[in-house]
Amino acid sequence: MDIRFHNLGPEKWKADVLLAPVTEDGDILHDNPELDKVAPWLAIAPARRDFTAKKGESAVLYGHPALAVPRIFLIGLGRRTDFTLDTLRLAIAGAVRRCRALGLKSILLPEPLITRLPGSAERLLEECVFAAETALYTGALFKKKDAEAPADPECLVVGFNAQTDAGQQAVRRGQSAAEALRLARELANTPANLLAPAGMADRAQALAAENGFACSVLNEDDLRAEGMGAHLAVGQGSAHPPRLVVLEYAPEGHADEAPVVLVGKGITFDSGGISLKPAAKMHQMKSDMTGSATVLAAVAAAAREALPRRVIGLLAMAENLPGGSATRPGDVVRALSGDTVEITNTDAEGRLVLCDALAYAQKHWQPAAVVDIATLTGACAVALGDEIAGLFSTDDVLAERISASGKACGEYFWRLPLWAPYAEKLKSGIADICHTGPREGGAINAAIFLKHFVADGVRWAHLDIAGTDWMEEKKNPLCPAGATAFGARTLLELLRGGVR
Ligand code: BES
Ligand code: MN
Ligand code: ZN
Repeated sequence: MDIRFHNLGPEKWKADVLLAPVTEDGDILHDNPELDKVAPWLAIAPARRDFTAKKGESAVLYGHPALAVPRIFLIGLGRRTDFTLDTLRLAIAGAVRRCRALGLKSILLPEPLITRLPGSAERLLEECVFAAETALYTGALFKKKDAEAPADPECLVVGFNAQTDAGQQAVRRGQSAAEALRLARELANTPANLLAPAGMADRAQALAAENGFACSVLNEDDLRAEGMGAHLAVGQGSAHPPRLVVLEYAPEGHADEAPVVLVGKGITFDSGGISLKPAAKMHQMKSDMTGSATVLAAVAAAAREALPRRVIGLLAMAENLPGGSATRPGDVVRALSGDTVEITNTDAEGRLVLCDALAYAQKHWQPAAVVDIATLTGACAVALGDEIAGLFSTDDVLAERISASGKACGEYFWRLPLWAPYAEKLKSGIADICHTGPREGGAINAAIFLKHFVADGVRWAHLDIAGTDWMEEKKNPLCPAGATAFGARTLLELLRGGVR
């Protein structure tokens, strides 16, 4: 969608529809001199109680004599005291989808209405743009074009004062976040026959060239030379060999600073390996590379936005299949850390690729912080459901920053403990460590395993997005069925703000 600015005032506005978000208190419409003669007219429907602005409620008004906009959507936001950015995002997204259903081409968003809401004007504008763009994503990647289906709206016109630098930047941030989310969703929705580890590496290289960051790829031989036996063990049952994709964004003047390292689990398909998963829902495991998709999307966005900090992204890619040379339960491998690892269940493959990537991060850089993100454990989904992801961290400040970043963009995290005594449960009789513990506390056990590969003093956080990464059915206008790419926005938000 094309985004334009229009700062001529209501009588000169032109579009197919005007979106007017209002609260139940109606305060947006009263005393809004910038809206001149329009606001009192907008206030008639609420005054007559035809439209009470409850959350999810909407009304259409036609034919204001002084406006070159034929229709107005009044969108209810509920009570002002209950207002959150989630409410705004959902309201705008719902309205934009309705615009598409009606075949409307241009949508006007009057800044004086938006910026009357609680919160910073820039954030509100950014979220409106994000929601409008994200609402148009359907995930129908491989369907024939439906000639009957209405086309997407062509442009969003931000009416009034948004032409300030801050307004323009807010709009660009909203567009960039939506683009990041869309890319990550597209990658995670792509089936495994069309996206293997090498394909992901190719996508990363193309994005690197486009957005101006570096990308190098370790193939199987490189992984062997490096000593990444845990990562290799996961991919060896597949005809599509593993890859470690290394992204680096280092803007001028930041080449030598301690980088933020993002690590993403990238299992392009997780069959469970020899410890085969049940057939039901196994197809969802094409999105077991969501972590890597969110990291790639966030690094690309950091470069696109020219953020002033150095970022490394590690995409730990492999396909977990039960081929003839697959890892067997009971096998022992040597990880990059030097530790031997007993593999008792080949379906706990995510922590194996991650433990080597975490070691790689510490071997090659002195990170300011390391954040990994992974569809890691069914146990996390059982604990927190499909709206909240697990957050583990050795650093309270980092944990708080991640929570706050997520909260600002509608991705919620709940901190779970790195309960030290549970390390006992990962003892192996034959190797330095066993990669799985008991079913009980499964998300914590996995996190404790990862922590074993993080040196004391390294600021580290682990995000378990199993449960939030996939929606069986459409959830709301911002979230169609399929991959959600949960975490992409949080990582970007974290990079924008810095990790200190
Ligand atoms: N990719 C799965 C976790 C998962 C489950 C993600 C459901 C999204 C939805 C992971 O590799 C896995 O299989 N974990 C096992 C670990 C167990 C064998 C210790 C699990 O959670 O059952
Ligand atoms: Mn698995
Ligand atoms: Zn997995």
